[in-house]
Amino acid sequence: MDSLTSESISEPNTIFLKNYTVPAYRVDTVILDFDLRETKTIVRSELKIHRNPESHASHHNLELNGQNLILLSIELILATGSQWLTENDYVIDDETLTIANVPNEFVIKITTEINPKENLALEGLYLSSNMFCTQCEAQGFRRITYFPDRPDVMSLFTVTIHANQDQFPILLSNGNKIDSGVESDNRHWVTWQDPFPKPCYLFALVAGDLYCKQDKFMTASGQTVDLYLYVEHENNHKCDHAIVCLKQAMKWDEDTFGREYDLDNFMIVAVNDFNMGAMENKGLNIFNSSCVLASPETSTDADYYRIQGIIGHEYFHNWSGNRVTCRDWFQLSLKEGFTVFRDQQFSSDMNSAAVQRIDDVNILRNAQFSQDAGPMAHPVRPQEYIEISNFYTVTVYNKGAEVVRMIHTLLGESNFRKGSDIYFERHDGQAVTVEDFVAAMESGSDSTNGSKINFDLKQFMNWYHQAGTPNIEFKEHYDAKKNSYSLTLQQSCAATPGQKIKNEFHIPIRVALLNLQGKTISLDLDGEDNCTNVDECILELKAKEQVFTFNNVQSKPMVSLLRGFSAPVKILTSRSRLELAFLFANDSDDFNRWNAGQELALDIILSLVKQHKAGAKLQLDDDYIAAFKKTLCNDYLDNALKAQALSLPSESYIADQYQAGDYADTDAIHHVRIFVRQQLAKHLESDLLRVYQLSTLIGDYQFNAKDMGLRSIRNCCLAYLMELNNNNYYQLCADQFKQSNNMTDVMAALELLTNYENAYQADCLQTFYEQWQNDALVIDKWFAIQAMSRLPGTLDKVKTLLNHPAFTIKNPNRVRALIGRFCLGNIAHFHNEDGSGYQFLADQVLLLDKLNPQIAARLIQGFSQWRNYNENRQELMKNNLNRIISVDNLSKDVFEIVSKTLA
Ligand code: PHE
Ligand code: ZN
Repeated sequence: MDSLTSESISEPNTIFLKNYTVPAYRVDTVILDFDLRETKTIVRSELKIHRNPESHASHHNLELNGQNLILLSIELILATGSQWLTENDYVIDDETLTIANVPNEFVIKITTEINPKENLALEGLYLSSNMFCTQCEAQGFRRITYFPDRPDVMSLFTVTIHANQDQFPILLSNGNKIDSGVESDNRHWVTWQDPFPKPCYLFALVAGDLYCKQDKFMTASGQTVDLYLYVEHENNHKCDHAIVCLKQAMKWDEDTFGREYDLDNFMIVAVNDFNMGAMENKGLNIFNSSCVLASPETSTDADYYRIQGIIGHEYFHNWSGNRVTCRDWFQLSLKEGFTVFRDQQFSSDMNSAAVQRIDDVNILRNAQFSQDAGPMAHPVRPQEYIEISNFYTVTVYNKGAEVVRMIHTLLGESNFRKGSDIYFERHDGQAVTVEDFVAAMESGSDSTNGSKINFDLKQFMNWYHQAGTPNIEFKEHYDAKKNSYSLTLQQSCAATPGQKIKNEFHIPIRVALLNLQGKTISLDLDGEDNCTNVDECILELKAKEQVFTFNNVQSKPMVSLLRGFSAPVKILTSRSRLELAFLFANDSDDFNRWNAGQELALDIILSLVKQHKAGAKLQLDDDYIAAFKKTLCNDYLDNALKAQALSLPSESYIADQYQAGDYADTDAIHHVRIFVRQQLAKHLESDLLRVYQLSTLIGDYQFNAKDMGLRSIRNCCLAYLMELNNNNYYQLCADQFKQSNNMTDVMAALELLTNYENAYQADCLQTFYEQWQNDALVIDKWFAIQAMSRLPGTLDKVKTLLNHPAFTIKNPNRVRALIGRFCLGNIAHFHNEDGSGYQFLADQVLLLDKLNPQIAARLIQGFSQWRNYNENRQELMKNNLNRIISVDNLSKDVFEIVSKTLA
């Protein structure tokens, strides 16, 4: 009988979606008062509470969440008078405060004390570079004060902040500033009021000495919105890009989704210590400085691009997340999947649609598919969790966005827009579920709504319920007598933890047929009125196997399947190299043309890996070299797309092609991939050099698609040339490093120099450090470059860098740059057969778990694919996982990932 109790003490609880119940009490208004002091901040909270008439709870207990709080006092104010509670009036433990037998309506005043300076987990209220800031999603508000910390409790917030005037002249919270004043001790105060009810995870507070970049935006209906970007004074020259992007995002959401901004001001604050990218707090977004600050000298094209996407993402949450929020955290993808879809569409409209789609698919293939195939596989809407922070995943975000994209594909642009309008109108001010979203989308295609079709998304819901990446196989049959072409499609999905049997998915598959000249054939799909006289149509695969027959096909066509990657699936049927080369040269769908090139490269690499393991001498296929050359020398191809087409599949994507029992040999993959790059460089040296030189830009750095394309093709050529191990190219690279006026070209050169033994490397690294030692974001790049190096001895270098004066384990960006890049990005070194990489990761995780569990839990994902490696490595990884799990007092975050990874 003791085993039961001891188990419940050591093992954290699992929370289940099926146990959801409505809150027993609602909080109408929250009045907060912060007396900010570095180690001793006093938080006074006054809550107006009423019993929820929808609750069926039999008890009358008020349950509030609270963590790491010092409770100073509780006062209840009832109709009959007020009452200070004593310890006998409530029950308190590590996570909750329960007051029994409260009335149906009352006010409660709670005073707590917290220590922002010691808060290294960066949840709740903390200090970051002399500024106070908060992070409350998902469950950080409970580290500020006792409160029903759940998204379906929405309240009106009024917040007063007191702080020292000199150190913290700027005091910010959500909504509008309604009052301010000065008080004794050189302190001042400001009161903010947010007119929109919100869940506490969207609360924010900032206090600091900050530079403010101001601008204005006029909404479609003629309201002027004041825009404010707050940064540390030293970053005042890095604000322009974010402001441009914000205005683009505001305009785009009006044009594309009909969504206007709803407050008089919109504020963004950049902070240096942040666990994630950014946070959509109502009217007061807080950003990791790496996701908002930019200047040509310090930021790469990739940084500029990412910043644009994230500024859009957080802004778009104002509707998809804030005005309409989540009922509970299982619904996280309701806001995140939809908002990622929105930011992807935004980036696609602002830049190149094809390049955006390729980038998005690369994230899925390189990270999401392996999550779906591993021990942490979970549905887009998970059914259980131990620590919700562990579910801010590529599945919830990126696969969630693909699910919304499929609805968009099935419904079509205009019905999708009708559906989203219905969603925002129907649920404004509510906390809702994925079902509510999908029902609104169905209403958008409802024939009573003027639509031709009545869409039924019942089976489609399996995308939300089931984990795992569906596999598609296809068979073709051309009947020359009947002039008909039939395509048989089959779907299947492997078991995932907790889900043995999978039901069929509803999968939209965009197809076109190409003739021998590579032109699309006008389609006539048997039995489908929607698919006649069109170049392309959407096949809806709903059964395990379905046959689609096209009539009037004059000769055997080449099928272009899953255009634009219309569903997050794997196509298992392999095609001949001849077919792939044909599609690589001819497919009119940009994505599929690129994809055919990747499939071709993958096929070649996989067979070379086989030969290499058999000890054979390697030789690269001449046809592939010719196809590569044709792409490289094609002057009509968009440069950014060309650079994508000339990039080989990543090592991790190659490794993922091996199924259990046929372990990926990471050394062989690494070796072969470099071999292929060297061969291409050797055969095409003069072409690569010519394209490199022709792509040189003169003049100031500009962030636009044309210039980005030129820089990416130029650096792509340089990277191939460096494979030749020729001092002329090392020199060329060092010259680029010294002479470029922008970080894109400087970084590209320095990264390459760090991957090869050469005479310039040490000097360039040193110069770079000295030039940028006072710019934290650039120094992150300096650490990351060294952690990513292919050269032998990289782990020792990383260990040495841990002791570098610029390294600090307290800053998440720095940890990600050095430890994260090595363990998650440097596959070949991390998986060194001697186990040194594994030992290193486990040591760092144990150290970090005491400081910042969220960051520790992210890093352990380096072990998540352990079963895909050879026995020796499996054993070594398992030992380190066991070493972690045997430690007492692990955080829930790390416990959950390690225990599920081992299960
Ligand atoms: N909600 C944030 C976003 O995706 C992410 C986030 C989650 C930030 C948790 C901080 C903490 O926009
Ligand atoms: Zn988000």
